[in-house]
Amino acid sequence: MKLIGISFSHAENSLQTRGLELLRQRSEESVTGVGDNTEPMRLYSMTDFNMPVCNSNKSDGNVPESVEKFISVLEEADVLVFAISEATSHYSAGFKNAMDWMVVKSKFNAKLGTDYAITRKPIFVVTFTPTVKEPNGARHFDMTKQLLEKLGGEVIKSHVINDAWKTVIPGRTSTVYELFNDIIAFLSFYMPDAPSTHTKDDNSSLRWLNDYNDWDRKWKYEWKPIHKVNGMPWPRIPTEITDSDNEVPLKEDYKLRSMDYLDTPEARPIFDKQADIIIENNIKGIVDVGCRIGIINDILHERGYTDYKYMGFDTSPQPIAYVKEVWKDYDNIEYRCASMYNEKDIKVEFDVDCVIWSGVLLYDPDNHMELFKKLTVDMYNAKHAIIQEPCKEQDPKKFLKNMKLQTIEDDLELYAGIYSDYDEWTIDADVFSGRRKIAHVWI
Ligand SMILES: C[S@@+](CC[C@H](N)C(=O)[O-])C[C@H]1O[C@@H](n2cnc3c(N)ncnc32)[C@H](O)[C@@H]1O
Repeated sequence: MKLIGISFSHAENSLQTRGLELLRQRSEESVTGVGDNTEPMRLYSMTDFNMPVCNSNKSDGNVPESVEKFISVLEEADVLVFAISEATSHYSAGFKNAMDWMVVKSKFNAKLGTDYAITRKPIFVVTFTPTVKEPNGARHFDMTKQLLEKLGGEVIKSHVINDAWKTVIPGRTSTVYELFNDIIAFLSFYMPDAPSTHTKDDNSSLRWLNDYNDWDRKWKYEWKPIHKVNGMPWPRIPTEITDSDNEVPLKEDYKLRSMDYLDTPEARPIFDKQADIIIENNIKGIVDVGCRIGIINDILHERGYTDYKYMGFDTSPQPIAYVKEVWKDYDNIEYRCASMYNEKDIKVEFDVDCVIWSGVLLYDPDNHMELFKKLTVDMYNAKHAIIQEPCKEQDPKKFLKNMKLQTIEDDLELYAGIYSDYDEWTIDADVFSGRRKIAHVWI
């Protein structure tokens, strides 16, 4: 039978630890003197673990080494003795910190009281205190019992040992006789049946973790409500353009939120058509140039089309960091922060069937055909390409007067002339500059 004493004090010269040391000595005397088969109590204090202040709010069960060590000590025990100092009539911070870490380890499990290292373990609580005035030292017992029982522990008895400057002194094991006798009496009939602890991956913790990750990404990637003009998703640009030379800005480093109007359900038709082309042509190897968050992957997965390899790249670091996180568990989907002008950074190992150029060729109005050929044909040897470009003619409600739109729409017919086959569609999505040309080019 393993009896383990834990002092929740972080002090080197702790009263709680020294009090438990007397209990340890008493248990040693008992083992040698009485000869029962209970090992002497093993004693730990918070200084043996050095756990940081609980700093995790993520329900993935990951805890520091020091916490793992603490939890494995608890798991080994058949019976526990917790020495907890009273601090302003509450339990001490060290004790609560250790309990909080246990909750993190258990993935913030909603099934309180079923899944912790102390669940179904008998616990004796003791507080050593210099005061002699009742109920000092014992005022935290109710809340301590409540907390331990909430985590499934079984509090057998709580002891307060007063006048500790005089009674907790070297060798005075008589101070802990009553506590020790209670423990021995309990051990005489106790049969341990606590199951070994496990941290359950039940649905509640997984759902909690997903919700956590969504929430955390909102902060990390500066989530904002979708900006709308005329009731439609819109980029965050001035709504009054007076100078007729104003162009929709083309940047190489957008924040994730700069183009979030494209991530809305209203913008979906632009990408749904691209997904149709991929699925209808059974395309298995995809490179997505200037992919931003590569929303095509969401659509393909929503439609159950998952057996393909994908590499998307973009010069904008923030959308790429975000989407790498979102798809980190998918071996067939890769995102890179890279430029279409640096061929060495955009090579892939798989066979490429299709290159997507969605809203990207407009970046190179004088040279787009050469760029298209260099990557789609010479480098990737792809049989298909998808081009998406904004139409010059836009519904006035979806555009700004005096604003110039950059597009190579007029040159698309040149692709039709050069490559073996060509199809094109006009899509009208209810977003800013929502009229788009989608072309499917066979090489
Ligand atoms: C108009 S957005 C289109 C994004 C996405 N393909 C879509 O259809 O929603 C153009 C994207 O190209 C990226 N970009 C600009 N210059 C680039 C370059 N040299 N190489 C790769 N991506 C580039 C921008 O960062 C931006 O995310």
